[in-house]
Amino acid sequence: MGKKTSTEYQTHKQSGLLEFIWSERSRLKKVTVFVMLRTMVLAPIPIITRQIVDHEVKGGSIFGVIQMMLIVLGLIGLHVIFTVVGNRELSRNIPNMVLDLRARIFHKLQFMNFGFLDRTKAGRLLSKYAFDTQQVEGTLVPIIHDIIPTLTYSICMIVVITTMNPLLTVVIVLMLPIIAAVRMFFINRITQNNRQVRLARERLTGTASEYISALRLVRSLGEEKAVSSHLDSHSEGFRAGRQKQIMLNTSLGVFTFSAKEFLSILIVGVGAIMVVHGYASYGVLMAFLVALPVILMPIQSITSFSQQYFLGQESYRSIRELLDSGYVERWNGDYIPQHIRGEINFEHVCFTYDEKKPDVLHDFTLKVNAGEHVAFVGPSGSGKSTLVSLILGLYAPRKGRILVDGMPQERLAMRQFRRRCAIVMQDSMLLSGTITENIRFGQPEANMEQVREAARLAYAEDFIDELDDGFDTVVGERGVALSGGQRQRIAIARALLRNPSILILDEATSALDYESERQVQAALNNLSKGRTVITIAHRLSTVKNADRIVVLHKGHIKEVGSFEELAKLDGAFAHLLASQNTPS
Ligand SMILES: Nc1ncnc2c1ncn2[C@@H]1O[C@H](COP(=O)(O)OP(=O)(O)OP(=O)(O)O)[C@@H](O)[C@H]1O
Ligand SMILES: [Mg+2]
Repeated sequence: MGKKTSTEYQTHKQSGLLEFIWSERSRLKKVTVFVMLRTMVLAPIPIITRQIVDHEVKGGSIFGVIQMMLIVLGLIGLHVIFTVVGNRELSRNIPNMVLDLRARIFHKLQFMNFGFLDRTKAGRLLSKYAFDTQQVEGTLVPIIHDIIPTLTYSICMIVVITTMNPLLTVVIVLMLPIIAAVRMFFINRITQNNRQVRLARERLTGTASEYISALRLVRSLGEEKAVSSHLDSHSEGFRAGRQKQIMLNTSLGVFTFSAKEFLSILIVGVGAIMVVHGYASYGVLMAFLVALPVILMPIQSITSFSQQYFLGQESYRSIRELLDSGYVERWNGDYIPQHIRGEINFEHVCFTYDEKKPDVLHDFTLKVNAGEHVAFVGPSGSGKSTLVSLILGLYAPRKGRILVDGMPQERLAMRQFRRRCAIVMQDSMLLSGTITENIRFGQPEANMEQVREAARLAYAEDFIDELDDGFDTVVGERGVALSGGQRQRIAIARALLRNPSILILDEATSALDYESERQVQAALNNLSKGRTVITIAHRLSTVKNADRIVVLHKGHIKEVGSFEELAKLDGAFAHLLASQNTPS
């Protein structure tokens, strides 16, 4: 569990939340205008206060006072109207922005290369998708709803009182940089700490989600203790970070509160002296006292909001790390094949999952003809599944290239190409949903008749019909638990329904009993006609019908030939065959 930093995303840009707000300005224009108007309409209140004290009170005019009060009442009315309209805009726009952000995250994930996805725990990505987007929303709302109007209000007040007595304003304005400098000191440390806390949290959720999904494995091995202590160490890292986070934020709060109190009393003192010396009227002093809390309001509200702001900022950065990451699939070809014949040509392909480690495939050259049935066999770890991943372009060769129907992968529109392929893997994944939905997953327009036909060919129809709800039985995480062999047959049906040009079977029948495997294999053999089929199997009986068998060993081709040819040779295949035929 190495320390992870943002460099793992191959990005050096540091984007902030404010940049995000700016990029969404067209959406936020209306709501911002209304929240600003909401407080701007209250700005004349100090002027009215001065008017009341210096003129109406002095002149003894009750009517004048009432008149002024009515004006204030009118302003408050306007304030309410702007607030209601602004809030409506806000509640409409912010959730939409976050919705788009989530969509962008998921969209980006579809383009990330598998090298990146192999290294990144699913929980960390989930944390970005679910937690961080929520955190961004929780930060945007107060910025728009509280911080912007408070700042506007404060600035309006400074302008208003400056017109009355610039000298008193100078006192306030001189104090502000001192407060700001001390705050900066805190803020730098808080930002650093927030980043550490966020990485610790991602590590914790990543590890926890992995262990939670592997509870069965952990318990059946009796490894609860080791897992708990591993998880506890991550939990402890997170706790320590949080402790520091709370300390820093509360210290900042104390400082800001004291500074604000000091500033208030300073204004009262200086103002009083000015009144004594005749530099200011009572009305002006009153107006200042009315305006002062408003002027200082942003310091308080920004401080109490700062913790949320930094969390939101950090969450937004975490999202940007992914959105700006350079680890995307290299393919940007635009050749959309109308029809794939299914010729696959490996030309001197070298490949490694990790640049720092030796190659997994060495100078691999092989031509699979269109419509041919080729089987890859060989010991575990010899590179069979890797070849399949390379055909589908899930990874890119380090050296050499792969051509499909003579077209290099770089020039292919990879997505369209993949839609013409179907793959059945050893551990067949089912999605939450009905059996029909699962079979139809790669071919949404298929009708029920076709779904049934595919299930029949995969020898899945019988067991499906025996389930209580038949094809409507809900499977996947929250549904009926199916056996490995049953899941595999559904996956085969799914692949068959696609009617692919290239069918890839990576240990597709390994979970079936001997009889079922024989039947499914017979069906698959019938279906091989007219398409390229790549079969990977440990049980050599499975590959008897292949046109050619490629024997792999540590990423090299050992032997190539038909079952009969290879069986006759006294080579690697014959040895494998002998070992499988030896009764145990
Ligand atoms: N996602 C991955 N990241 C890093 N290394 C990998 C990854 N997948 C496979 N490898 C390594 O590449 C080598 C070839 O693996 P591959 O999965 O192709 O073998 P295989 O022939 O399919 O084996 P098996 O018969 O067990 O399925 C192995 O040494 C394996 O450790
Ligand atoms: Mg494999």
